Amino acid sequence: MLQAPENRESHGGSGTEPPAVCVIGAGSSGIAAAKALYERGIPFDCFEKSDRVGGNWVFANKNGMSAAYRDLFINTSRPRMEYSDFPMPADYPDFPHHSQIAAYFEKYVDHFGFRERIVFETGVQHASRGADGVWTVELDTGETRSYDALIVANGHHWNPRWPEPAFPGSETFPGTQMHAHSYIDNSIFAGKRVVVLGMGNSAMDIAVESSYVAERTYLAARQGVWIVPKYIFGKPVDQLRNDPRVPFKIRQRFTQQLIKTYAGAPETHGLPKPNHRFGEAHPTVSGRILDRIQHGTIAPKPNIESFSGSEVRFVDGTTAEADVVVYCTGYKITFPFLDEQLISAPENRIELFRRVFDPDIPNLFFIGLLQPLGAIMPLSEAQGAWVADHLLGDYELPSAAEMRADIAADQAAMRRRYVASKRHTIQVDFDDYLHDLAKERRAGAERARANGYRPPAACRPSAATAAS
Ligand SMILES: Cc1cc2nc3c(=O)[nH]c(=O)nc-3n(C[C@H](O)[C@H](O)[C@H](O)COP(=O)(O)OP(=O)(O)OC[C@H]3O[C@@H](n4cnc5c(N)ncnc54)[C@H](O)[C@@H]3O)c2cc1C
Ligand SMILES: NC(=O)c1ccc[n+]([C@@H]2O[C@H](COP(=O)([O-])OP(=O)(O)OC[C@H]3O[C@@H](n4cnc5c(N)ncnc54)[C@H](OP(=O)(O)O)[C@@H]3O)[C@@H](O)[C@H]2O)c1
Repeated sequence: MLQAPENRESHGGSGTEPPAVCVIGAGSSGIAAAKALYERGIPFDCFEKSDRVGGNWVFANKNGMSAAYRDLFINTSRPRMEYSDFPMPADYPDFPHHSQIAAYFEKYVDHFGFRERIVFETGVQHASRGADGVWTVELDTGETRSYDALIVANGHHWNPRWPEPAFPGSETFPGTQMHAHSYIDNSIFAGKRVVVLGMGNSAMDIAVESSYVAERTYLAARQGVWIVPKYIFGKPVDQLRNDPRVPFKIRQRFTQQLIKTYAGAPETHGLPKPNHRFGEAHPTVSGRILDRIQHGTIAPKPNIESFSGSEVRFVDGTTAEADVVVYCTGYKITFPFLDEQLISAPENRIELFRRVFDPDIPNLFFIGLLQPLGAIMPLSEAQGAWVADHLLGDYELPSAAEMRADIAADQAAMRRRYVASKRHTIQVDFDDYLHDLAKERRAGAERARANGYRPPAACRPSAATAAS
């Protein structure tokens, strides 16, 4: 346990032992953080509930937490999703299948050689921070261990959010009500009348899959979104040039016009008209939904109002008989192993410096807790490297007051820009985030240099962790 190879020079930490770190989760975020620790010789244990890495991308994952369905393909293109130093195989398509993505994460771990640092089939049940700052981590094996720092990478797309409150009369519905999280394949829809609720990516995929086998598929939405095609000009949309130095408003206007020209405004297809401009909601990406609507195999509807037995009433007064209702209504951000008084995300709100650092809990870090316009993996990779540099003293944080001011400004900007929704609480723009993070890391490296590369006091190894 907790061995670390001597494989990297750092400015900080010379003469001092690096801290002992616990990483929770070996999904694509946890393994990116683990690799950064491993490369820098920081001792760590990465606990993973499942028997393999990859989290959400492992279909029928033993951990029971994956939302992957049989025909899930990524909607962020391959070059957007791959880690910066480990390209996906050249024979992968632009939008690989979940099985290829899961295999890629397995190869990543073996390529960089840190598989033995992952403790599989071991869940973290509880992590508490003592008055001395040391983390006591209780495992579901019954064992307890101590760490100087905790990295949380438990994912944020596994705890289903059902409509709250439930729709009036939903308890009288005799058919199946399910959440997208438990959707496996369209065999359950064969010959049925299906209502899919939501306008995110789960709703798009599930409505399309239903449309091939169901007697009737309705797509119900409480508000409209811009539907982004997967390709424009023969290229995956997320590969079109997006320079963070160009003001957002200009990029926004350009992209919205492009989508309108290419796919038409959503209302021309019978979908609700978006009440916002492109980029003010998490992108709904689908190359197939408009086609299925145009073929009459999916009927757009406004929000559900109520149920009366098998009759679903929509807010425009129309009704439909249904056998299955699929709630594609998103996910809750939760950390079941942390005490709520310490930190939690009520209504999905959590305030962290650049989505990673809590100014009040200096040895707790979150990786992958963001919702990018783009893929998560390269951002988790950058966050992992950032935290690892911090732990060694190669990067120094701004003061707590400066971090709080930065958080407040970021929260205000997010509220101004995005449609009010529980799904828009941790948004970032992919290129802008990486650009700003690189800038912040340079500034923090300069602070660290000026202060003699001191590792953060709050993460110093304690007697408790030295003994474990
Ligand atoms: C259907 C669907 C499709 C998606 N498609 C895309 C896409 O195309 N592109 C994209 O960028 N993102 C996509 N996402 C977002 C998704 O969150 C990321 O792709 C990715 O899975 C995030 O990785 P992660 O490691 O943060 O979380 P996860 O993949 O959820 O991994 C978390 C890991 O932590 C482990 N864990 C959790 N709690 C504990 C504990 N207490 N103890 C030990 N281990 C624990 C879990 O077992 C799991 O292995 C999609 C999400 C969904 C639901
Ligand atoms: N192929 C893929 O790669 C793929 C497939 C599926 C999912 N994903 C990813 O997985 C993540 C989760 O996506 P998701 O689609 O499951 O969730 P989501 O993005 O959170 O979307 C939830 C949808 O449900 C609506 N909604 C929530 N509560 C509602 C209520 N009570 N009544 C009516 N409508 C309600 C939301 O509307 P409001 O906007 O009004 O809140 C929104 O349209 C995203 O990152 C997504 O990109 C990717």
